[in-house]
Formats: sequence, structure tokens, C-alpha cells
Amino acid sequence: MNETEFELSLRPVKLNEYIGQEKIKKQVSLLIEASKRKNQVLDHVLISGPPGLGKTTLAQVIAAELGRNIHFTSGPLLEKKGDLAGILSSLEEGDILFIDEIHRLNPSVEETLYPAVEDFKLDIVIGKGTASRSVRIELPRFTLIGATTRAGMLTSPLLSRFGIILNMDFYDTDSLTEMVLRSARILQIQINREGAEEIAKRSRGTPRIANRLLKRVHDFAVVNGTGFIDRKTAHKALEFFEIDENGLDPIDRKYLDILINKFRGRPVGLSTLSSALSESKNTIEEIIEPFLLREGYIQKTPRGRIPTDRAKRLLKRFEK
Ligand code: ADE
Repeated sequence: MNETEFELSLRPVKLNEYIGQEKIKKQVSLLIEASKRKNQVLDHVLISGPPGLGKTTLAQVIAAELGRNIHFTSGPLLEKKGDLAGILSSLEEGDILFIDEIHRLNPSVEETLYPAVEDFKLDIVIGKGTASRSVRIELPRFTLIGATTRAGMLTSPLLSRFGIILNMDFYDTDSLTEMVLRSARILQIQINREGAEEIAKRSRGTPRIANRLLKRVHDFAVVNGTGFIDRKTAHKALEFFEIDENGLDPIDRKYLDILINKFRGRPVGLSTLSSALSESKNTIEEIIEPFLLREGYIQKTPRGRIPTDRAKRLLKRFEK
């Protein structure tokens, strides 16, 4: 089983299996109910939030609750207008089109999308040069669900076409504990609540990380014990894999070390960090920083990133 298959097997299918994000679930549930009662397709939905929080899963849950088909694609996969036209012309009434990383659509594809989502019309050009002409095709009414890690990077014309905007936030420890217990049940891993909680606390508020850590801790437990995960085993396993009590991993600590010890608290720009860490700017902005910012380890200023006192205290403990 590879990582993707592993994640798929753990995905909830219905809204009542979806853990946490209570406000979003209430809104989604109401909107689905309204769409059914009005017998109208659901308005277009934008789901935004950091990677690994279950945006795709939520889209699948919405489709399942509506009893509709869902078609998956992503911004970077839709290279040409024709790629989008192909998918749009295969849709049926009420279908859901899921576009992941929708902030990465190329501008000409994005323009093709506007009339499609607004008026359910697709303009295609037939022929070349002077002989070319544009024809307009009627599309069935469908729901676009866009997912993005960067709502701020959407153009305003695109943003304005979504009637529903769901902003997902990191999960609390209780929700993640439930998820770890649920995943362990599905994967037939023996664990108690304390063990699950220990993993949850160090998962940076992110289900994808919780599921990954569960697997690693299980590996550790199988080799060093009976395979059963209690608090002590989880604790030892996570120390072994260098995940600290706050969920920070070696890359996070290296990031903070660069800000604190190399640049001595002076503001550091993204490019500098990228070369110092050997990580892409994208990884830094989308995966590493959101959690460090939210937990108050760093601040972003117009001149660059600076470490907070919390980060300085954390590193001191590690240096001892
Ligand atoms: N996997 C990813 N997100 C989830 C959630 N909110 N509940 C259960 N499993 C999940």
C-alpha cells in the first residue's frame, strides 16, 4: 500500500464520520439540505486551508451526501484550455468538478472557467487562423469545488464566482485523537486513548501527519514491543523519530535555528531561507510556515521572518 492508498482507506465517506471542523460541517450540512429541498445544484464552493487538513476528503463527503459524481483534477494538470473543455464537456447534471490547487490555474484556462461556472456555457474555438470561429456549448448545471492552500493568491474574478467559502483551520488535539483511534481501528493497530493522544498532540493539527505518525509509531512498537501503542511507547517512538512535544520536526528546528543563530533575529527573506534549508519556497510557505506562524514561533514582517521569544526558548532547551 503506498501513501496515497493508505490515506484513501482512512477517508471518511459521510459527514457524520468526518471528525472536527464543527462549524464547517454545520454549514455544509445545511447547504446540502437546502440544495436538496430547492432541487437546485449546490452553489460553487471554495475550500481553503493548509495542506493535509482534509480538503479533498471534504469535497468527497459533499459529493457523497449529495449523491453526485465527483471528477478530480488540479490547477497544474489543466495546462491548456482544451484540457478543461474536455472535462467540462464530460459533466452530467449535478456533477461535482473538484479542482485542487485552484490558485495555480493558468490565466487562459481560468478565463475558460468563468463562463462555465457563471452561465454554464463553454466557448470553444474551431479551426485555425481566419477560418476559425467560436462556438458556444451549453453545459449541464454542475458544482465547482475549488481547493486552495492560498486563498490570497486567487484572482478576484475567480474568487467572486464562489458562492460558498469554507476556511479550514488546524484541528484540536481531541479531534486528532479521535482520528488516530479511528484510523487505528481501520488499520487494526492496537492502541489506547493515551497513546492516540500522544500522537495527536504532535501532529501539528493535521490529520495527514497524524495518520503518518500513527504508522511510524506502530512500526516502532512492533520492533520494540508487542505492537501495542500506549503513551509510553508513543512517547519513545516519537523521540526516536525526532518529533518533539510540540510536533516540531528536525526541519522546523533547523528553520528556527537559521533565524535565531545564523541571522541573530534579523529579518530573513524567503529566498535566503530556501537556500539555507534546501527546501523549495513553496514547501516553506505552504507546509513549514503556517504551523510555525500559528503557534507563534515566527512572525512575518515586511522585511522578512523573525523568530519570537517562544522559538528562542524552545531552541535553548534543545541546545542543552
Ligand atoms: N481524514 C482527513 N480529515 C479527516 C476528518 N476530518 N475526519 C476523519 N478523517 C479524516
